[in-house]
Amino acid sequence: MSWSWRRMWRDARIPSVMGMPSITNAQPVVRLRDVTRTYGQVVALAGISLDIHRGRFTAIMGPSGSGKSTLMNVAAGLDDATSGEVLLAGANLRAMDDDARTRLRREQVGFVFQAFNLVPTLSARENIVLPFELAGRRIDAETAAWVDHLIGALGLADRITHRPSELSGGQQQRVAIARALASRPAIIFADEPTGNLDSRSSREVLTLLRTAAQEYGQTIAMVSHDPVAASYADRVLVIADGRVVGDHDRLTPQQISDLLIGFEVGAA
Ligand SMILES: Nc1ncnc2c1ncn2[C@@H]1O[C@H](COP(=O)(O)OP(=O)(O)OP(=O)(O)O)[C@@H](O)[C@H]1O
Ligand SMILES: [Mg+2]
Repeated sequence: MSWSWRRMWRDARIPSVMGMPSITNAQPVVRLRDVTRTYGQVVALAGISLDIHRGRFTAIMGPSGSGKSTLMNVAAGLDDATSGEVLLAGANLRAMDDDARTRLRREQVGFVFQAFNLVPTLSARENIVLPFELAGRRIDAETAAWVDHLIGALGLADRITHRPSELSGGQQQRVAIARALASRPAIIFADEPTGNLDSRSSREVLTLLRTAAQEYGQTIAMVSHDPVAASYADRVLVIADGRVVGDHDRLTPQQISDLLIGFEVGAA
């Protein structure tokens, strides 16, 4: 990563959305305070408070049904909190209507999913720039250069005209990561991004996510069941029964497994 790319990334101004204040380095990208989410009788989130700061790669772990995906969806504005405060890139999601939230998401959030979610009829490059098209944003020379840089850095240069069906799973996920990085969002949410990949492709994808955080200062929150995947993150949050029950700096796979065994047994 050349210095100029690093500087370009850091200097990139994050636009203010709907007159909301622009986020600064000191402000958390995500702030949750006493957030609950219930579905009828089911309490998916039981009062979650946490901050995610800029440039951090956070893993969210916990037993099945503990509320990880709900937490991600609420923080990203894909789902409504039942109570509590949700700030995303400085904007109060609960005070915004659906249109404003959709705009905020388009400008400030990137997503990477287990199932890649690429458009099958578009080439890899067309998939990567699709968010710009959807947001009606012009691809200026600087953005085009950034996209070209990502394509090279993610090892996609010789696959860029291929459609998703002509790519391996690992390549498809790298296209999805390039798509998420292209618009330099305030945060990328990744829900089990390595769930469909073999161990070698998983390692490649996790290394790319870690590099994006370290080299580009890209904030990333990743839900994963896999202790090896979570060991790439610089923070490990553990969720059980809709609450934060652990918040740790970088851990080894073994330390993470030991932590989780306690909660899996406790939850059984
Ligand atoms: N739309 C919904 N309607 C009703 N209940 C829901 C809904 N979404 C989630 N839940 C419930 O909320 C709880 C938390 O679900 P969530 O999907 O957040 O868990 P998770 O930690 O992501 O689990 P997994 O590891 O299996 O993906 C579960 O009990 C689930 O059944
Ligand atoms: Mg889930």
